[in-house]
Amino acid sequence: MSFYRLIYRSTRSWFPIVFWFLFTVSCGAEANFTNMRSSSKSGDSKPNKALDGETIRITIGWRDSIRSQDFGLSSNPNVDDKSLFDIVSNNTFGRDDGQKCSTCHNSSMALGGYATDGDVDAAVNIEPDDKLSGKPWAGSQGWAQRFAKNKNKPDNLKMFFQSWIDSGYKDTDQD
Ligand code: HEC
Repeated sequence: MSFYRLIYRSTRSWFPIVFWFLFTVSCGAEANFTNMRSSSKSGDSKPNKALDGETIRITIGWRDSIRSQDFGLSSNPNVDDKSLFDIVSNNTFGRDDGQKCSTCHNSSMALGGYATDGDVDAAVNIEPDDKLSGKPWAGSQGWAQRFAKNKNKPDNLKMFFQSWIDSGYKDTDQD
């Protein structure tokens, strides 16, 4: 048996431990992230206000990739390189608690009056002008406006929706 093969064999059993370690570390990072956000004053949760006080103007389109660092936040694999389209359409979790929007908003459950067409946890393509429970995401009466102002929604997602509102609803008929 070659030397390298021997090394490979002897380390293979460590893989689960290494993965467990990485997993734990990433959970820790997320806990810090949540603390950081929840301890911020309401002024800080204003969109485009970086944590170091520098004001940055970031606007994103419905299908643009999100980068948390552009918003003065720590990088966050739940949203980075994903778009609002991906999150609202349930192609990804988006939320740090790992729940999809369609866990609570689907064809048989309309918490907060917001239903989507699919089953529980299903992915359904949602465009900004599609009407869901009578309202589109885009526009002054739309869901994005309501989401961005809702005190129970995650701060980071609220910033991203506000940024899209500030863009004039980029990637829609309204821009
Ligand atoms: C754990 C369940 C749960 C999940 C997951 C969830 N929501 Fe909600 N959502 C609620 C509840 C409960 C309400 C109503 C209470 C409130 O307005 O705070 C609500 C309200 C809303 C509203 C209406 C807000 C308003 O003020 O009119 C929208 C829009 C919405 N959710 C979108 C989303 C999107 C988008 C996601 C995914 C990023 C999501 N929700 C994930 C439970 C959930």
